[in-house]
Amino acid sequence: MKIRRLLGLDIAREKYAFAKDAAVGHISAQRVADTWVKTTCGYCSVGCGMQIGVREGKVVTSRGDQNHSVNRGKLCPKGLAEHYVLNAENRARYPHLRGKNGLERISWEEALGTMAGEFRRVAEKYGPQAIGVISTGQLVTEEFYTLGKLVQLGLGTSNFDGNTTLCMSTAVSGYKRSFGSDGPPGAYEDFTKAEVILLIGANIAENHPILCQHLDANTKKTLIVADPRVSKTAMMADIFLPVKPRSDLALVNGIAHILIRDGLIDREYIDRHTNGFDELCRFLDKYDPEYVSGITGLSTELLERVAHLYGKANGAFIGWTMGVNHSSKGTETVNAINNLALLTGNVGRVGGSPFSITGQCNAMGTRETGFTSSLPGYRKFENETDREELASLWGVAVERIPTQRGLAYPDIISAVLRKKIRALWIIATNPLVSFPNIDVLKQALGELEFLVVQDCFHPTPTTVLAHMVLPAAAWGEKEGTYTNSERRVSKVNAAVPPPGEALSDFDIFLRLAGELGCREELFPGWKEPRDAFEEWKRVSEGRLCDYSGMTYEVMEAYGGIQWPYPKNADTAPTAARRLYTDGVFETADGRAKLICAEWEPFPEQPSQDYPFVLNTGRTVEHWHTRTKTGAIAILEQIAPRAWLEMNPVDAKRLMLRPHDLVDIVSTRGRVRRVELRVTEVIAPGQVFVPFHFAEWNINEVTQDIFDPISREPNYKQCAVRVEKAASA
Ligand code: SF4
Ligand code: MOS
Repeated sequence: MKIRRLLGLDIAREKYAFAKDAAVGHISAQRVADTWVKTTCGYCSVGCGMQIGVREGKVVTSRGDQNHSVNRGKLCPKGLAEHYVLNAENRARYPHLRGKNGLERISWEEALGTMAGEFRRVAEKYGPQAIGVISTGQLVTEEFYTLGKLVQLGLGTSNFDGNTTLCMSTAVSGYKRSFGSDGPPGAYEDFTKAEVILLIGANIAENHPILCQHLDANTKKTLIVADPRVSKTAMMADIFLPVKPRSDLALVNGIAHILIRDGLIDREYIDRHTNGFDELCRFLDKYDPEYVSGITGLSTELLERVAHLYGKANGAFIGWTMGVNHSSKGTETVNAINNLALLTGNVGRVGGSPFSITGQCNAMGTRETGFTSSLPGYRKFENETDREELASLWGVAVERIPTQRGLAYPDIISAVLRKKIRALWIIATNPLVSFPNIDVLKQALGELEFLVVQDCFHPTPTTVLAHMVLPAAAWGEKEGTYTNSERRVSKVNAAVPPPGEALSDFDIFLRLAGELGCREELFPGWKEPRDAFEEWKRVSEGRLCDYSGMTYEVMEAYGGIQWPYPKNADTAPTAARRLYTDGVFETADGRAKLICAEWEPFPEQPSQDYPFVLNTGRTVEHWHTRTKTGAIAILEQIAPRAWLEMNPVDAKRLMLRPHDLVDIVSTRGRVRRVELRVTEVIAPGQVFVPFHFAEWNINEVTQDIFDPISREPNYKQCAVRVEKAASA
């Protein structure tokens, strides 16, 4: 018996060793690079520095950059496999136009000529505002800057937004209301210097893995994680707060109540740098621990303990992501978070800031260069001086600068449905997977006269619907910059040329401008991203997001530079940079606003027919709508399909077993045949499904309810029922 077991073990070990050698041998022959190209990861906003290995003109591997301050050589699984994206089979290679036989290959001349012609036709017939543009957080900043100018001044429409509204527009709106401008005030260094770190609705272990490295480096911290689900990040916490869904705002107000009651606030900071304290005190009166305990499901003792830890910390940091942002009360929740930071003087302080962790690699770039929620350089639409300054920088009449923002993403879609928008240009995003309540989107797109989709991938669920598909270069094939969550601007470089006839988005924009006849006016003499970068440096000069002291070379040498980095910056490029360190904010009187934000229950409560609260989110292997990662075997094999997490108590009641296939049903639709995972990671009465999968698209059931201020969808909570799937 014993011998047999040992034998079994040895055989197993031998088999394993053999398999491992074979795999290593196989890989090493392919993966030895002859040159390394420095760049920045193109997935998430952590912004890891990396190198792409090239051998005989082909990308063969990726590795972390040892000298980059963000990741010091480490990468997460997506980053390590990123080079595979470039040779994926589903890369878009040629322009296509819908003809008799579906999408047919055409030349760039024909494509851009047709596109300019269609936009012109729609503008003449219905006015330029009948053109809508939905962009992304995936391009380089130079491209966002160019695109903003092209859309506003070239196409003459302000109905321009991005997929970033599905993600962090809430953080933007929240910062603007509290501080007078967007811009996360903190730095990653705060993760290592804070005494208390409170993460709210932020599963960084899964979605921003390399940030955990910064957390781990801080041995004196207390990590508090608030999440309705026992996420991987929750498992890292010293104190886990298993809040009821969408009770975050009450939790934060409740902490503020205790801080004020117990005098754990910085009265001097409040008096000098904020408005609205007395009103906030009156407002918070009712958020006593008993009331908040009833809403959040946390004990009053736990609330008191957390508030005292936060209030007494020398450096208290709050990080949040989608748990907060994906909510119809999101902006107000961000305001309540900012209140906590203001009440205790934890804004722009070493180890203390209210810090929104961004999603996409360059969502920040869209925020800075603007024309969606603000004018370039965080200038305000409603501010005459800002408009005049921008017009004079560009040498255009001030009348061409809009006085208010155009429609936000969901409102562009509803304008399409009402035929107010007739032509739509979608760039590097995949709404057929990512938009909430997908049926409404499908109806809307059916109304369009002209849909052009520009993407590095084709087919995708969205490109297959288009009248025209434009093939774009991907990460690894083009040059520019990305700004990460801590406002660090890092260099992005091309390792190889794009496949087929694909062009960089930058070249597509310039060539379209040529077709529209505005290239020389808007982009005189521009040939490469550096031309856009140089102009952007001038346009951002003196603004909060000042780039004027940066160069590509310095950026690359130091692993990125945080803005603001003015011409005569008084600190080294490597120094951690924070905002509002002097307590002076971007409001008219320089004071931040304390805002009263009332908690309310989420819109669609569970009922007898739809008894579960559905939560959606991500998994580490995949990226948003899986166009990239679904094509990468090593990631796809680990996470090939969607699943639904359900608590054992509920599974038992419904007589469901692990691996059963279930349907998820809401009043809006049905997702079929999702694999059941029975786990205590999820609380009774709640279920969780990852949102990456077109084949099991959870947005068939989510609701199209939006934050009234940021217009971000309330993806996180809706009422569903779970049924055993009919046998196939
Ligand atoms: Fe890329 Fe984000 Fe992973 Fe870093 S943590 S390697 S930036 S996906
Ligand atoms: Mo986001 S996923 O930062 O647009």
